[in-house]
Amino acid sequence: MNVENFYNLISGEYTEMLERIVPRYREMLWMILDYVPKDLNPKRIVDLGCGTGNLSEVILNQYPESDLIAVDLSTSILDIAAKRLENYPNIKYLNEDFNALDFKTGSIDLAVSSIALHHLTDKEKEKLLKKIYSWLSPKGILIFGDQFAGSTDARYQQHMSNWKLSAEGKNTPESEWTLWMDHQQNHDYHTTVENYFNWCKQMGFKNSDVVWRYFLWVVFIAHKP
Ligand SMILES: C[S@@+](CC[C@H](N)C(=O)[O-])C[C@H]1O[C@@H](n2cnc3c(N)ncnc32)[C@H](O)[C@@H]1O
Repeated sequence: MNVENFYNLISGEYTEMLERIVPRYREMLWMILDYVPKDLNPKRIVDLGCGTGNLSEVILNQYPESDLIAVDLSTSILDIAAKRLENYPNIKYLNEDFNALDFKTGSIDLAVSSIALHHLTDKEKEKLLKKIYSWLSPKGILIFGDQFAGSTDARYQQHMSNWKLSAEGKNTPESEWTLWMDHQQNHDYHTTVENYFNWCKQMGFKNSDVVWRYFLWVVFIAHKP
C-alpha cells in the first residue's frame, strides 16, 4: 500500500492513533510553536503534510490573522482537516505531493511540518529544502518536528526499543504497532540531524538548531537570513 492509500485508510481514526503511538506528540507541537521567533509575525504560513490539521490548528490559534496553506497527499485526511477546522477561514487546502509542490519565491514567512518529511528519501528531502529556502521571505523560518535516525545505528535501535516500551505503556494494541512498523519499513526514510545541518548550511540557512528531542522525535529549526 502506498503512502497516500495508507493515510486515506487510517484517516478516520488518525489523530487518536497518532496520540497513542507517538510519545509526547502534543509537547512536540507546542515546541514547534514555542521556538518560532517572537518577532516573526508571519503573514503566510505553510504546513507541509498537515494530516488532520493538528499542527495547523496550534499555529493558527497563535496567528489567527495569518493565511495558512495546508498541504497533504491524502484527500481523505484533507477532508477531515477541512471539516475539523471549518471555523478557521484563513486555511487553504492543497492536495499535492511535496515533490511537485511549488510556491512563488519569497512568498512564505513560516514553513512548519510535523512527522511528515521523513516520507521523502534523502535526495527528495534535499530538493524540498532547496525549494523551501526559495519560498521563504527574508528572515523566514523553517521549523518542523519529525522522526530521525540516531547518529549511530546502535543509538537508533535504542530509540526504537524505547519507543516500543512507551507505546506499550500507553496500551497501544499490538496490531496498531505492527501497522505502523509495516508502514515505517516500507515508506519511512529516517535521516540524521547531521544530514539536515549539512543540507541547511549548503543551502544558505543560518542558525540551524535542534531545539527539542525525545527518542526519534526532533524539532529542527533553520533561519533564512
Ligand atoms: C504522520 S502524518 C502527520 C500529519 C500531521 N502533520 C500531524 O502532526 O498530525 C504524515 C502526513 O504526511 C502526508 N504525506 C506523506 N508524504 C507526503 C508527500 N510526499 N507529499 C505530501 N504529503 C505527504 C501524509 O498523507 C500524512 O497526512
